[in-house]
Amino acid sequence: MSIDFEEAVIKRMKNKGVAGVEYLVMDATAMSFDSGSFDYAIDKGTLDALCSDKSPETASRVVAYFNEIVRVLSAKGGVYIGVSLLQDFVLDSLVSFFQGGMGNTHSETNTFDFRI
Ligand SMILES: C[S@@+](CC[C@H](N)C(=O)[O-])C[C@H]1O[C@@H](n2cnc3c(N)ncnc32)[C@H](O)[C@@H]1O
Repeated sequence: MSIDFEEAVIKRMKNKGVAGVEYLVMDATAMSFDSGSFDYAIDKGTLDALCSDKSPETASRVVAYFNEIVRVLSAKGGVYIGVSLLQDFVLDSLVSFFQGGMGNTHSETNTFDFRI
């Protein structure tokens, strides 16, 4: 399963015809997948695109994204792998959220093991 909220991106990827991958137009901050649907979530550049500055609007978008990632991952050991340029404010948001702060709505039911 591969998502992007830009229709043009999904159309281009579908045209490439990669076997075994389903491409869907979907906003990563409000996904339509059931909770616990995946063992892995892999992000290459989406967090960087979402976390473009230090504004409060950006921060709340990033919190919504992280909460959605945790929600769709299996609570029995889901893994989130991110490829990021890791600017200082991106790193700050990752550390704050996965230490259970910054609007993490899963911190009372989940434990997080965070590695860079
Ligand atoms: C740097 S590009 C990376 C694209 C792809 N992962 C790659 O490695 O080629 C970031 C992508 O994130 C998508 N994106 C940004 N915000 C998004 C959101 N809220 N939901 C889904 N996709 C989003 C953009 O449309 C863009 O295609």
